[in-house]
Amino acid sequence: MGKSDKVKKVENAKEKLKKESGSRKAEAVRNAEAAPAAEPDGKAKVVQKDEKAEPVREAEKEERSFETRLGRHMDELKWLYMELYDSQEHFDDLLKNLKGFYEDRKASLKDLDKAREKDPGWYRRNGMLGMMLYVDQFAGTLNGVREKLDYIKKCGVNYVHLMPLLDTVEGRSDGGYAVADFRKVQEKLGTMKDLEKLADECHKDGISLCLDFVMNHTSEDHEWAKRARAGEREYQDRYFFFDNYSLPAMYEKTVPQVFPTTAPGNFTWLPDRQEFVMTSFYPYQWDLNYRNPVVFNEMMYNFLYLANQGIDVLRIDAVPYIWKQIGTNCRNLPQVHTIVRMMRMIGEIVCPGIVLLGEVVMEPDKVAPYFGTVEKPECHMLYNVTTMATTWHTVATRDVRLLKRQMEIVSSLPSDYTFLNYLRCHDDIGWGLDYPLLEQWGMLQVPHKKYLNDHFTGKLEGSVSRGELYNEDLVTGDARFCATTASMCGVEKAGFEQDEYAMGAAIQVDVMLHAYMLFLSGIPMLYSGDEIGQVNDYTYKEDPNKAADSRYIHRGKFQWDLVENIEKPETVQGRLFARLAELEKIRGKEKVFDASADFRIVETWDDGILGLVRESEDGKLIGLFNFSDEPRIAWIHEDDGLYRDLLSGNEMKASGVWVDGHGFFWMKRES
Ligand code: GLC
Repeated sequence: MGKSDKVKKVENAKEKLKKESGSRKAEAVRNAEAAPAAEPDGKAKVVQKDEKAEPVREAEKEERSFETRLGRHMDELKWLYMELYDSQEHFDDLLKNLKGFYEDRKASLKDLDKAREKDPGWYRRNGMLGMMLYVDQFAGTLNGVREKLDYIKKCGVNYVHLMPLLDTVEGRSDGGYAVADFRKVQEKLGTMKDLEKLADECHKDGISLCLDFVMNHTSEDHEWAKRARAGEREYQDRYFFFDNYSLPAMYEKTVPQVFPTTAPGNFTWLPDRQEFVMTSFYPYQWDLNYRNPVVFNEMMYNFLYLANQGIDVLRIDAVPYIWKQIGTNCRNLPQVHTIVRMMRMIGEIVCPGIVLLGEVVMEPDKVAPYFGTVEKPECHMLYNVTTMATTWHTVATRDVRLLKRQMEIVSSLPSDYTFLNYLRCHDDIGWGLDYPLLEQWGMLQVPHKKYLNDHFTGKLEGSVSRGELYNEDLVTGDARFCATTASMCGVEKAGFEQDEYAMGAAIQVDVMLHAYMLFLSGIPMLYSGDEIGQVNDYTYKEDPNKAADSRYIHRGKFQWDLVENIEKPETVQGRLFARLAELEKIRGKEKVFDASADFRIVETWDDGILGLVRESEDGKLIGLFNFSDEPRIAWIHEDDGLYRDLLSGNEMKASGVWVDGHGFFWMKRES
């Protein structure tokens, strides 16, 4: 633990004490108010317990918890709101609605809120294991997912991220990230009631649900957009409209492009209106204008509406983009943080059981600020995006130096920060690496990106990966990459060539990567299909709505026929599933995997092997991961006792450890 971390911890503890004594004071005041009046002689009048004291009505108690939570945040919330919007009228409207959403929140969710308030680390426990899936690809409908909960449990998963499922228009959906109605589920997937039912069922099984909250934009098919297009000024003010190109041209000077090939530019010309509208993503995704307090308020109501359906984790999509300012890159502006901080407080007032997961696909120094500070937290969790990209760089280069550096950065952050770790997700891999450092080792940005893309598309001699480029910029040569974990590890190639030896090697890489990902500090997230080694799905090319977007290569239908193999140890699925299940089981049992454990690197003196340490009062664990394909020695020397490999059960010394090619160890110090 770094020094500043310790200082923060102490401050945190002091703050907690202050708050507790504050609430103890409040409690004392309440008790005094409820207590019987003293007799003139100073002695308290003796009353039979229930004789006089009026039973505190449930409703009052409820009211009190809302008011207490509001009271805790009121000053700061109002301050930030006024700073941004300076409108008492809109602020009052916000407060009125917060109360309304609180009143609408059902009792079971309020109970969950209370339980989670008492156990604020509930989502960071070692037993947490996430999985992200597309409802239609996985089980057709929301009810289908409910019927498949047994499989989800079998995977050891207790946190399910349902990919975007709100109303959208086929062909103009960006995989569901163009929302046409925040309060309606896509008809083909079911209804809001089905979602609520699924959430209830999940809660019974101790499973949390995560849903995307796409707040940067709406679909052009959203009612606001339609009314804006029809000329209603009030709705036009919710977006960015321009009747000539002079302001858009100024923006374009400094704002980078998200989809340079599939959707170039940040503005779209609307011939029917003879106007431009701001569209940072696809032309049918209109950016919302958060300078307008109505937009902020209404979007908060949408957030709370979803929370009240029983959602536990809200993934705030593309959050760095939500504030626009001419002359800047329109990313991560200070107002974004003000808005996220307000969201955090609003959540804590109305539905404190909710966790905010920020999607900040940016370089590390831009990511961490979204955690906010200990006193003024913003997101509870953030994606560990740089680690993900750096991991695949390491797979290609078999050189752990950059990953080691990245681990050092992660371990220097306070352990209150919770990262969501993953190997693959629904999006492409952008090669956002630490190029200044790589350049010192002779890897220059442009050729290195090309090398990575050539490696993973399988163009290079000896490469076993299969996949496709994404948003290749023919001018700069820049490109991102898409494929499933299994295809990147060589499962697809080995299967196609029916090469049993190569298949064994591919599975080994896949398992080692999962073992490493599960070891990282934070919460592990599986991508549905990875547990059975699902490979790329090329059928998207036949669908005109998808053909131009290679991200669909890893968004294929879940192959239930392959699930049948998981009990057969001779199959790919049998081998992979069983080994991942074993790792997950160990992780769930060993408390030292809790996100609060200390996390650091251990020097292995071999550029092929990454050495990591987790330590807490629950023990000490060393992870060794060989990213090279040959046996190597990890020159560690931890002479603080004997260790046991948690997988084989073998006792071993933590010094000079032989690690097979693409092998790994999870070694626990014996107590
Ligand atoms: C996020 C999503 C991505 C989507 C974009 C626009 O980055 O992960 O799939 O295209 O937001 O909403």
